[in-house]
Amino acid sequence: MLNTCYNALDRHVDNGRADQTALIYDSPVTETVESWTFQELRDRVAGFAGALAGQGVGKGDRVLIYMPMVPEAVIAMLACARLGAPHSVVFGGFAAKELATRIDDAQPKVIVSASCGIEVDRVVEYKPLLDRAIEMAGYEPDSTIILQRPQAEAPLIPGRDRDWREVAEAAEMVGCTSVAATDPLYILYTSGTTGHPKGVVRDNGGHAVALHWTMKNVYGVDPGEVYWAASDVGWIVGHSYIVYAPLIHGNTTVLYEGKPVGTPDPGAFWRVISQHKVGTLFTAPTAFRAIKRDDPNGEYMHPWDLSSLRSLFLAGERCDPDTLHWAEERLGVSVVDHWWQTETGWPIVSNQLGLEPMPVKPGSPTVPVPGWDIRVLDESGAEVPDRTVGSIVAKLPLPPGTLPSLWNNDEGYRQAYLETFPGFYLTSDAGYRDEDGYLWIMSRIDDIINVAGHRLSTGAIEEVVAAHPSVAECAVIGVADELKGQLPMGFVVLTAGVDRSHEVIASELVSSVRESIGPVAAFKTVHVVPRLPKTRSGKILRSTMRKIADDDPWTTPATIDDPEVLTEIGAALGK
Ligand code: COA
Ligand code: AMP
Repeated sequence: MLNTCYNALDRHVDNGRADQTALIYDSPVTETVESWTFQELRDRVAGFAGALAGQGVGKGDRVLIYMPMVPEAVIAMLACARLGAPHSVVFGGFAAKELATRIDDAQPKVIVSASCGIEVDRVVEYKPLLDRAIEMAGYEPDSTIILQRPQAEAPLIPGRDRDWREVAEAAEMVGCTSVAATDPLYILYTSGTTGHPKGVVRDNGGHAVALHWTMKNVYGVDPGEVYWAASDVGWIVGHSYIVYAPLIHGNTTVLYEGKPVGTPDPGAFWRVISQHKVGTLFTAPTAFRAIKRDDPNGEYMHPWDLSSLRSLFLAGERCDPDTLHWAEERLGVSVVDHWWQTETGWPIVSNQLGLEPMPVKPGSPTVPVPGWDIRVLDESGAEVPDRTVGSIVAKLPLPPGTLPSLWNNDEGYRQAYLETFPGFYLTSDAGYRDEDGYLWIMSRIDDIINVAGHRLSTGAIEEVVAAHPSVAECAVIGVADELKGQLPMGFVVLTAGVDRSHEVIASELVSSVRESIGPVAAFKTVHVVPRLPKTRSGKILRSTMRKIADDDPWTTPATIDDPEVLTEIGAALGK
């Protein structure tokens, strides 16, 4: 039995860290910097837990959180943990339909949201998206709690919507509810191989132990230091390394509402590091590619004292050696590429700065973290020799803190992760091990793509594109992009007789993906083609299409129905 919020806050208040800063909110988009000590944060969280309890939330009830990067998002997460009520945070860049799917699956008693988010200089109104999602969903929450932000206040629906400030002010602080180590702390939806996202469940006990352990052993961080994960609370990196791990370990965590560039310039990260004396920075390689693109010589670093920084951790997508070298040379600190997934909650393969750091081989996240028995298998389930690409799997049992199941979907969990190779967890990443035991992560074996460190399913995008009345069939593939790593690209065959402008149809498709999935899908390119390349049994040859788009070497598959179609695809791409 334990309580995760107790371990993240109260334990430190009771053991000498009451006056240490727990949370720094740094928001260049609202020109705000604020901080809270462990004592202050504990009191705010205990108060908001009282507000949630006042709305009827108790142990086991779900609470959905759809918020921008404001401190109230962290407060709401910890308040749920305090009550033993699993939270489900939905990333703000998802649109109403994605939100509706998650509302239906998690069936939250209460939804906590904000009137708006701020994307550089654009105000994104969240409340209309939330209202539409609740309308679309079959399930209806009892109430919502809305944080009104001055950039765009939202009209509240009487009887359903409550104002954050009113409920928080009226509430009494509440204590921590004990839960079983195996009770769920949260559900985090992530892209699966279908349009229906998978609700990854995280438990309380294993999670707290594993995350606490990683702080020193993987990240090399001591309690009291400032740790900054420049991600979003809507993603796994935000859950684990903005909120839970640093606080449980007694670190000061930074919540940054801004971008690496444009808020206001490519010096934004250096300003934050210098101003808050950040010791460890964690972000996605794409953030560094964005900075490098705008400031190749690192001139925006010069005004800032970066002497506090000891290490940079990168994850979420493959780290290209150019980005790794650029960061190493400019910053002069250890740069660690590490590989993990929403499902695992913490690193699988990483250089471990608190244990025995290994020499870096650019392009490899180095070696498995203790707790992980990683193997590389061929299609028959046999282990492959060194340097042979295969399916990367983890021998069961999985270490603590990894997913025990999918929300309300044990069968889906077995099918997705456990059945392909009995006795092993399928990561769905392909790659190889070298003669020194280093892992090299090459690609996904499913339809997941990584766009600016965000995990998306091309299958889900295809479902939206295929629903357009002018589209007879379609394929969406992930093509290489210098900044975002990958970008989705659509190929559509029009329904016979449709003679509307291709440009208009393409722009309608772009809008409908933005409306259904969200702007984060970054779906901007659609090619209208006469046919799609297929095998004789009708399977679309997406991987050959991707190779053509990326100018990778390719050969005509022996199973192709009509090789001429590949020439048509090349022509559509201007190749
Ligand atoms: N709410 C609403 N809209 C959002 C959003 C949010 N929380 N987050 C992103 N969006 C929108 C953006 O405004 C953008 O919209 P646009 O197409 O109208 O410009 C779109 O979604 C794509 O956003 P993003 O992927 O952030 O691209 P970008 O071009 O604005 O910025 C980077 C590119 C590289 C600077 C940015 O992706 C980045 O900082 N990445 C860091 C990686 C990261 O945090 N990864 C998380 C895992 S570690
Ligand atoms: P997510 O669940 O959003 O964290 O995405 C997990 C997926 O991102 C993994 O299955 C990989 O495909 C990819 N990924 C994450 N980190 C790395 C890394 N360091 N190197 C290569 N791929 C990575």
